[in-house]
Amino acid sequence: MREKIVVANWKMNGSLKHCREWAAGFAELPKPQQARTVVCAPFVYLTEIGRLMMPIGIEIGAEDVNENPSGAYTGEISAGMLADVGCRWCIVGHSERRQLFGETDNRVAMKALAAVKAGLRPIVCVGETLAERESGATERVILRQLTAVLSVLSPKDLGAIAYEPVWAIGTGKSATPNVAQAVHSAIRQRVAQVNAEAAQTLPILYGGSVKPESAASLFAQADIDGGLVGGAALDPVSFHAIVMAADALR
Ligand code: 13P
Repeated sequence: MREKIVVANWKMNGSLKHCREWAAGFAELPKPQQARTVVCAPFVYLTEIGRLMMPIGIEIGAEDVNENPSGAYTGEISAGMLADVGCRWCIVGHSERRQLFGETDNRVAMKALAAVKAGLRPIVCVGETLAERESGATERVILRQLTAVLSVLSPKDLGAIAYEPVWAIGTGKSATPNVAQAVHSAIRQRVAQVNAEAAQTLPILYGGSVKPESAASLFAQADIDGGLVGGAALDPVSFHAIVMAADALR
């Protein structure tokens, strides 16, 4: 069976106080037996959350990374720096980065490659907008985004793929389990064209309004191996409930 992973994406939220209260709140709750738990947080908090969360079994990750190893890129953070402060994971190609900061498929692929070279597991986000879904372009868009990454990296180097339909992010309208499963299956088939064995072990996470109430039915789908959680991950009790929904699937 594939590993189950639940990843928090805090986005640009929180404070040192929030980090400390969150870690203390999560530490009081029962430990998952098998689901991997990852918190991706703003760069400035990574050292502190690593100190607080690694001892309670949570791995840490960044929300983005620069594709260059070092140099004159004022304000940017390299994958090596992330590994240096204890990150194991890094989100790349989140739709907010693609839409608000103009990240292209090619740049996302370069970021994923930089993460792998530094020993991080990239979580590559793909997803269609509402207009793309309504015009029947969902699969074409997702496969285009995926192909860019697969042209520079072997599937076995990927940490996870996250399917995040843009219309489901922060809207409270999660994709239904069937709709999400259909896309996850298409993603796995595309990966299998490159490496059938890696496709079977690659975790494919769903993101977009995952809540404690919706998590179990999403994670029960054959090709949904966990979640990438935004809003509900800001509260340790809600996030823990989502982790336990993944943990219960053995
Ligand atoms: P929400 O869970 O708030 O919809 O955010 C999803 C997301 O973008 C995670 O990366």
